[in-house]
Amino acid sequence: MLTTAPRGTRDILPEEAAKWQYVEEVIRDCCRLYGYGEIRPPLFEHTELFQRSVGEATDIVEKEMYTFIDRGGRSITLRPEATASTVRAYLEHNLHAGPQPVKLYYMGPMFRYDRPQAGRYRQFSQFGVEAIGAQDPSVDAEVITLVLDLCTRLGLKDLVVELNSIGCPKCRQEYRQALLEYLSEHKNKLCKTCLSRIERNPLRVLDCKEEGCRALTAAAPQMLEYLCSECAEHFKTLQQCLHAVGAKYELNPALVRGLDYYTKTVFEVTWSGLGAQTAICGGGRYDGLVQECGGPPTPGVGFAMGLDRLLIALEQMGISIPTVNKPTVYVAALTNADNKDAFALLTILRRAGIAADKDYRQASLRAQLKAANRSGAKWTVIVGGEEKKRGAVVIRDMETGEQTEVPQDQLVSILKSS
Ligand code: HAM
Repeated sequence: MLTTAPRGTRDILPEEAAKWQYVEEVIRDCCRLYGYGEIRPPLFEHTELFQRSVGEATDIVEKEMYTFIDRGGRSITLRPEATASTVRAYLEHNLHAGPQPVKLYYMGPMFRYDRPQAGRYRQFSQFGVEAIGAQDPSVDAEVITLVLDLCTRLGLKDLVVELNSIGCPKCRQEYRQALLEYLSEHKNKLCKTCLSRIERNPLRVLDCKEEGCRALTAAAPQMLEYLCSECAEHFKTLQQCLHAVGAKYELNPALVRGLDYYTKTVFEVTWSGLGAQTAICGGGRYDGLVQECGGPPTPGVGFAMGLDRLLIALEQMGISIPTVNKPTVYVAALTNADNKDAFALLTILRRAGIAADKDYRQASLRAQLKAANRSGAKWTVIVGGEEKKRGAVVIRDMETGEQTEVPQDQLVSILKSS
């Protein structure tokens, strides 16, 4: 137990972390281009925030939250997602008093007591954006376009944007009734989970993966036919905006999403190569959430992308990621007595902005050169001998094996110009 990470968690070691850093940089640049500023909310919140926002009858709140009582007797939950925290921060810092919408993004770990499998973890990372304070359907189109641009920049192919509208509480009520009547007539074909929650949340049956439920919902009444004129107009304009930028999508009337706060637009970006966990990204509009959290009526829209899954997709698509983990220069000491000079030179190089490393074993020159080779360094600088007495060092080109003596005080400029 002491030597294994808890189930559903994992370590990201330097080679993989370099890939994450690259992806994170591209994400930050996309957010800059689209005008989203970073928010870093805490990793835990009052449990009630998630109960109120994500919803009591959702898988997340019913069975996936890491909740505990802290030493002060408060119920605390490790964040399972960050939309709720962003909305809480929007209210706490009076961001509704400034220009709207407020456009924020976040990146970081989320926690869900999910059943671990490929692409599904108990600690996983999300990148998400939230645009709070605008009703305009072009904001829905903006967040979808941001995802698509990001995926294009990363080189991801064959992704599908699935789109639906689940209406507003007004028109959804009518749809809910129609769906409930339909499902009640076919109760015997529903799975146990769906049967237990059709009264509380019949829409969730639509995204149940059980075969019986899927067959049943294929013929169920569809939300798009029940949209009120405002929701229908919103959905139409969103699609026009997406057409205007050449964004491809597929309508999926069964897409309802597993969180309660959504209104109108919902979408997911999927990739079939991920196996059972096809969703790389999910999001939508949440026009009632700010009010639900105690604020004034305020619309909002956003998404979150699973970074672990995104990296799996990049790997599986064979997309190579530029990473720079190797030192440029390896510094070797001719003898143990040259070790402190080698260390001093190493520090000079690093302070001059050159990535450098050395062997720490006080090994023979031969062993140090072997280590230099393994490190992938382009050059090895050898410190010691007659050269040292002359104020010089030897540079060895690790590819050709060619060695040149250079004055030590010119080393930095020589390395920088070659
Ligand atoms: P979500 O669909 O629950 O939405 O999660 C978004 C993404 O996080 C998923 O598409 C998936 O890629 C990733 N994800 C979720 N659970 C796991 C897991 N156990 N392991 C690995 N990856 C996972 C939300 O979280 C909403 N807050 C999105 C949103 C933002 N809606 C509006 N604004």
